[in-house]
Amino acid sequence: MKVFGWQKEETFYTENTPAQTGPPDPKNARDPLFSARGLTKVYLAGEVEVRALDGVDFDLYPGEFIVLLGPSGSGKSTLLNNLGGLDVPTSGTLAYKDRELTGADEEELTAFRRDAVGFVFQFYNLIPSLTALENVALITEIAKDPMTPEEALGLVGLRERMDHFPSQMSGGEQQRVAIARAISKRPEVLLCDEPTGALDVKTGITVLEAIERVNRELGTLALVITHNAVIADMADRVIHLSDGRISRIERNGARRSVRSLRW
Ligand SMILES: Nc1ncnc2c1ncn2[C@@H]1O[C@H](COP(=O)(O)OP(=O)(O)OP(=O)(O)O)[C@@H](O)[C@H]1O
Ligand SMILES: [Mg+2]
Repeated sequence: MKVFGWQKEETFYTENTPAQTGPPDPKNARDPLFSARGLTKVYLAGEVEVRALDGVDFDLYPGEFIVLLGPSGSGKSTLLNNLGGLDVPTSGTLAYKDRELTGADEEELTAFRRDAVGFVFQFYNLIPSLTALENVALITEIAKDPMTPEEALGLVGLRERMDHFPSQMSGGEQQRVAIARAISKRPEVLLCDEPTGALDVKTGITVLEAIERVNRELGTLALVITHNAVIADMADRVIHLSDGRISRIERNGARRSVRSLRW
C-alpha cells in the first residue's frame, strides 16, 4: 500500500500563475498547495440531489490568508471539509502538492489530516476535564514535529492561562486554546469554519489576531469561513461562493491587520 509522507518539502518556484485566480501576486510565483478542478459534491437528501459544490476551480498557495464568503447553504463548509480530507468530492480533482486527494483511501486521508491540517470550528471542542496545556498536549504527544504546548499557547497569547480549565476561560480564550491545539503540530494548512461565529465582536478580534499571527509567523495557509464581510479585508484573497459555485475571487491590494478593521 502506498503510504503518504506528508513531511514539509521545499517549494519550487515556477512561472505558472493560473488565470482564474485573479491578478498575479508574488505569493503565487510558487506551486500551489491545493489545486481544485471541476470540484463537485452532490449530496442525496432522500430523492433530492443537492449540488453543494458545483464544479469549482481554484489554486491556494503556501502562506496565503484566504477568506471564504457566501450565504448560508452556498457550500462553504463542504469546500472546507473536502480541503481537509473530512469529506470526499463526488467528481472533479483536488490535489494537495503533487498528491491527488480525490481517490485517496481512508488511511491516506487520515495521514493527510494528521500531518498537514489543523481544524478550528465554531465550537471549541475542548475536553472540559483537562487544562489548556493538557488539551494542547493531547496533540503534541502524537505529532511528528510539534512545538511544545507552551509555545503553541504563547502564540495565541495564553501562556499565563495554561493551567486553567475550559470552564475558567471566556469563549474567546477557549477558541484560542483550540487554535493552539490545531497549530501545535505545525500544519501547513489551518482550516477555520466560522471561528468567531459564537463570539462577540471584541472577542472575535482576539481570535482572528491569533489566526493572523499563526499565518504570518509560521507561514501557515489559513482559510477562514465567515459571514462577516468586514473580515475579508484581512485576507490576501477573498473567495465568494454562491450556490456551490465560485462567483468571484478578489485580491486585496494590501492586507489589513485585524486591529485596523472597522466593525
Ligand atoms: N451531509 C449532507 N447531506 C445532505 N445535504 C448536505 C449535507 N451537508 C451539506 N448539505 C447541503 O449542501 C449545501 C451546502 O451546505 P454547506 O454546509 O456547505 O453550506 P454553508 O455555506 O457552510 O452554509 P452555512 O453558512 O449555513 O454554514 C446545503 O444545501 C446543505 O443543506
Ligand atoms: Mg457552514
